[in-house]
Amino acid sequence: MKRSLLLLMLATTLSYSQQWKWPDKPKNVKVLSPEITADRLHETMDGYKDALGVRCNFCHVGEDGKPFSEFDFVSDQLPMKNITREMIRMTNSVNAQIRDLFKGGSETPVEVTCVTCHRGSPVPERIEDLLWKKYELKGITEAATLYREMRRIYHGSFTYDFREHVLLGVAQRCEQEKKQVDDAIVLMELNAEFFPESPRTLNHLASLYIEKKEPEKAKPLIVKVLSMDPNNRFAKRLQTQIGK
Ligand code: HEC
Ligand code: HEC
Repeated sequence: MKRSLLLLMLATTLSYSQQWKWPDKPKNVKVLSPEITADRLHETMDGYKDALGVRCNFCHVGEDGKPFSEFDFVSDQLPMKNITREMIRMTNSVNAQIRDLFKGGSETPVEVTCVTCHRGSPVPERIEDLLWKKYELKGITEAATLYREMRRIYHGSFTYDFREHVLLGVAQRCEQEKKQVDDAIVLMELNAEFFPESPRTLNHLASLYIEKKEPEKAKPLIVKVLSMDPNNRFAKRLQTQIGK
C-alpha cells in the first residue's frame, strides 16, 4: 500500500517534469521568426546562454536548477529579455552591413554572433579596462585582488586575456598617467608571480625599483635575467645603471 503510493507520487513527479517541451509555436516572440521550430529555438537559447556565460534565468522568470515547467518563458518581466531583443536586432543589422560590404566576393562573409563580442561574459569588457576602472575607483590593492580572482575563475577560458602584456600595460599606465611607481610595482610583482621566468617582466620590475632608488631589490631580478639570458641587453643596461 505504502509502496504503491510512493510509485504513484514518483510517476506524477516524472510526468510533471516531462510535460515541458520546447514550444513549436512560441507565444511571445517579437524579433526571432514566429515560425521558429522547437529545435531551432532550443539551439538559439542554448547559444545565448553559452555566449554570455549565464543560465536561462538571466533572461527568464524562474529558478536555476528547477524544472523548466516551473519557468515562465513567455513573460517579459526581466529587463535582460528586452535588452537581448535589441542585441539580436543590432547583430542582424551588423550582419546585413557586413554582407553588403563584402557582396560579390568569392566567399560568404563571416557572420557576427553574440559570442563574437561576448565570449562567455554578459558585459564584454577587456580585463585591462576592468582593472583600470577598479584601480581608479578603489585603488591598487583591490585591482590586484580583482586580477587574482578573475584569473582563478577564468584562466584557460576564452573570456579574458591573461597573457603577460596585460598587467605590463596597466602598470605602465599607473606609472605614466598617474605617476604612481609604487602601484606599478604592485602589478609587476603580481606579473612576476605568474611569469617568473620572463625577462620582459623581471626587467621592467627591476627598472621600477631603480626608479624608486631601491637598487638592492632590482639586483636579484637582473641577476636572474642574466642567468637565463647572459646577453640580455636591457638587463645589462640596468646592471650598469646600478653600478655592478
Ligand atoms: C540572454 C537572454 C536569454 C537567455 C540566456 C535565454 N533566453 Fe529564452 N528568450 C530570450 C528572448 C529575448 C526571447 C524572445 C525572443 C523574441 O522575442 O524574438 C526568448 C524566448 C524563449 C522562449 C519562447 C517563449 C514563448 O513562448 O514566447 C523559450 C521557450 C525560451 N526562451 C527558453 C529558454 C531556455 C530554456 C533558456 C536556457 C536554456 C533560455 N531561453 C535562455 C532570451 C534568452
Ligand atoms: C558588437 C558586439 C556585440 C554583439 C554582437 C552582441 N553584444 Fe550584447 N553587449 C555588447 C556590449 C558592449 C554590452 C555591454 C554594454 C554595457 O553594459 O556597457 C552588451 C550587453 C548585453 C546584455 C546586457 C548584459 C548586462 O549584464 O547588462 C545582454 C543581455 C546582451 N548583450 C545580449 C546579447 C546577445 C544575446 C547577443 C547576440 C544576439 C549580443 N548581446 C550580441 C556587445 C555586443
